[in-house]
Amino acid sequence: MKKDFLSLIDIDKHELESIVADAMRLKQLKSAGTTHEYLKGKSLGMIFEKASTRTRVSFEVGMTDLGGHALFLNPQDLQLGRGEEIRDTARVLARYVDAMMIRAYKHATIEEFAHYSSVPVINGLSNTLHPCQVLADIMTLSERFHDLSDLRLAWIGDGNNVCNTWILSSALTGMEVVVASPPRYRPKDTFVNQAQAAGGRIRIVTDPGEAVRDADVLYTDIWVSMGDEQEHAERMQAFKGYTIDSHLLARASPDALVMHCLPAHRGEEITDDVIEGPQSIVWDQAENRLHAQKALLVHLIAGGMPSEE
Ligand code: CP
Ligand code: NVA
Repeated sequence: MKKDFLSLIDIDKHELESIVADAMRLKQLKSAGTTHEYLKGKSLGMIFEKASTRTRVSFEVGMTDLGGHALFLNPQDLQLGRGEEIRDTARVLARYVDAMMIRAYKHATIEEFAHYSSVPVINGLSNTLHPCQVLADIMTLSERFHDLSDLRLAWIGDGNNVCNTWILSSALTGMEVVVASPPRYRPKDTFVNQAQAAGGRIRIVTDPGEAVRDADVLYTDIWVSMGDEQEHAERMQAFKGYTIDSHLLARASPDALVMHCLPAHRGEEITDDVIEGPQSIVWDQAENRLHAQKALLVHLIAGGMPSEE
């Protein structure tokens, strides 16, 4: 039975721990220059309806590191762009490749693709979820903290795809997630309810100061996600006061870490001094996209890494 990764909670706590442990091993192997071709001869198809820097390059380099190959597929260059149906494209590509990664506007597009694909499908970001990002972020925090269940993460800003994924993550890691958003841009109740039903600890507030109190991690993302461009002016207005700056950071725990999935808009959701400052771990997050996704690919395609001798 093939396994998809459309949402972070498509994997359980045990799988999450195993993928993070494998990601750390893969990071060490790469840094030591040791060959680790666990997906030799395997191919990954990648469809991007939206722009990408990190996701595209990390998946492509990741497959090369693992001895496999990745194909970048622009929907406009596929027959998909001329009306071929998703269900037909999904079935045909599954006859060629060993896994698919899709970045799409609608989450339903990725679900439909996965339904018809006989190989694993990975969500490379949809309008509602971004599980690969939070997987890498959990690895990044695991490099610094032995037990994540004691941590409190404050999400400041838009209740968007990355925020929804953090909310779901609480059910797996035990971390408390406190979201501060303007009322109109709160995360969807469906994800909050789903996470709480699975044991997640979530609080939704309006005041960023309240959210960061005793927080160990501050996280933000752009105020205008891909696909929301027509709301640019009203969003700029609504998110005033939701910038992570040195004043807000000073109200968190003294050693609080600052995270951002990138791309960042300095001066909007985060100030230059904070993203460049000593508490920022954004470059580790970006790097770990590579290692975490390699571990995910090995998990989905080959059932995980062989155990260490
Ligand atoms: N964080 C992230 O997914 O970046 P890209 O949009 O560049 O892939
Ligand atoms: N929320 C952002 C994340 C980009 C990686 C977006 O969807 O555009």
